[in-house]
Amino acid sequence: MDPMDPERRKELIPAICGGRPVRETLLPYGHQSIDEDDLRAVIEVLRSDWLTTGPKVTEFEKAFAACVGARYAVSFSSGTAALHGAVFAAGLGPGDEAITTPMTFCATANCVLYQGAKPAFADVYPDTLNIDLDEVAGRITPRTKAILPVDYAGHPADLEPILELADRHGLVVIEDACHALGAAYKGRRVGSISHMTVFSFHPVKHITTGEGGMVVTEDTALARRLRIFRNHGIDSEARQRQMDGQWYYEMVALGYNYRLTDIGCALGLCQLNKLNANLARRRQIAAQYLAAFQDLPGVIPPTVRPHVTPAWHLYPIRLDLPKLRVGRAEIFRALRAENLGVNVHYLPVHLHPYYRERFGYRRGEYPVAEGAYERLISLPMFHGMCEKDVKDVIEAVGKVVHYYGAR
Ligand SMILES: Cc1ncc(COP(=O)(O)O)c(C=O)c1O
Repeated sequence: MDPMDPERRKELIPAICGGRPVRETLLPYGHQSIDEDDLRAVIEVLRSDWLTTGPKVTEFEKAFAACVGARYAVSFSSGTAALHGAVFAAGLGPGDEAITTPMTFCATANCVLYQGAKPAFADVYPDTLNIDLDEVAGRITPRTKAILPVDYAGHPADLEPILELADRHGLVVIEDACHALGAAYKGRRVGSISHMTVFSFHPVKHITTGEGGMVVTEDTALARRLRIFRNHGIDSEARQRQMDGQWYYEMVALGYNYRLTDIGCALGLCQLNKLNANLARRRQIAAQYLAAFQDLPGVIPPTVRPHVTPAWHLYPIRLDLPKLRVGRAEIFRALRAENLGVNVHYLPVHLHPYYRERFGYRRGEYPVAEGAYERLISLPMFHGMCEKDVKDVIEAVGKVVHYYGAR
């Protein structure tokens, strides 16, 4: 087509400047995929005797544990509740500290606060934006009880040296793998490595239960504490008592109602069957993005270290700002105008007003995370994306970045 053709030129001008958007409708950054099998599984439970804490819970937990290569899996009502359970099971309380990354969703740090303990932040590596081992080592104090690495965007943290460091100091490693179901680190499945590993089944994740989460562990005592915690601190379950003809129970710790329903677990079981296909699709999309963006001036695709297989929950590109005439805010708005539901993951946790006000954090304390944050944009990434969706993302990013390229 003639580039001087007014119609063609309209296509090259970003929608924000009056051009035609690449898409007519918004493509979200993440979205669930629900098929007929999922619907049938949920309806079956709705017709059964047990809507919550019935047979589907145990079935889902067993299947999930097998899938990630763990001995025990304990389901929770959300990834956040699962993190809270893990911090409780690790024995954290007032006066204790846990080290985590600022480059995460606030729930990773909040769960430490829920138990009256204090989160301490350690800066991240510039390539993966995962927690930096030396930074962690430098922040260990006599009060430190746990390390919470996050597998940012689905790329596993550097788990082996983190576990060695934790062992030397007697610390518990609670891996926040809410982005990383199906990822592998040095040939081992995420979920089979840390003392406890936490997953989320929020709709934008690799599989969904609506809301839901899971903690997996090899440790029998931790698994027991997790089960008690998610059930008010009560040491037996209602269904088991009914089957045993018993009514008596004891509350042995302060717990919560963090139970995942049978409805959610039936959906989770059905979704789990599709995990490998979902992961394969996400990897395919990541490969297409990499091919399109690796030589595109102004865009830096996410790094993958040699020993890992990421699960690609997110696809966060970084803008190479010296190669662009405008900042992240303008590029973000321009991509939105093209109808890409781009997002930013994350405002570093210590910069949220609550953390600033409560702990006095200021800008400049975690320069790597803060510097990355200024340049991050998450592109749409979910297993339900069709070929046209992927093509639209590549076209819109190319168009916007080219238009705003430094001249
Ligand atoms: C890194 C991380 N941790 C924890 C959570 C909390 O999970 P949920 O939304 O299931 O409570 C999320 C949610 O997206 C997350 O991204």
